[in-house]
Amino acid sequence: MEANEKNMGNRPARESMTDSRLHEFFLEELKDIYGAEKQIVKALPKMQDAATSPELVQAFEEHLDVTQTQITRLEEIFENLGESADAKKCEAMKGILDEGEKVIDDTEEGTATRDVALILAAQKVEHYEIATYGSLLQLAHTMGHTEVADLLEATLDEEKEADLKLTEIAESKINYQASEEVNE
Ligand SMILES: [Fe+2]
Repeated sequence: MEANEKNMGNRPARESMTDSRLHEFFLEELKDIYGAEKQIVKALPKMQDAATSPELVQAFEEHLDVTQTQITRLEEIFENLGESADAKKCEAMKGILDEGEKVIDDTEEGTATRDVALILAAQKVEHYEIATYGSLLQLAHTMGHTEVADLLEATLDEEKEADLKLTEIAESKINYQASEEVNE
């Protein structure tokens, strides 16, 4: 019996408990990240257009595809939970994306400095998503939503990968190039 008590943390709560406060909260957070992903889909082409380095342009292009898959995955999650997929406008993501647009205005076209700024803005997006999906994944486990957890984990892995890719692009060339740029 003692062993069972120790396992409480990993033990799923009552199956299909869809009337709990936690379920409601979980659902609201899913709607929030669903809204955020849709906002990201609109922003990525602008970031791609503003970028100069071919590696960065490609990374934004690829992440647009990935983001569309993530939106579909969230729709599967809502379906799995028997809930309708309603997007909620994510105010935090709006703020992060507004900042991304501002760095485009504040930097010169064709410079590595602008690419550095775009990478920083994009990594803020990724970190918001990593925090959200990481927490939702834990909640899905706690509430016994195994299939939902698998879907959330797939997206979480993609966000982490995108973040690493951006670091790699920054460190391999762009940060160094930007450090050599002078004001004209
Ligand atoms: Fe995403």
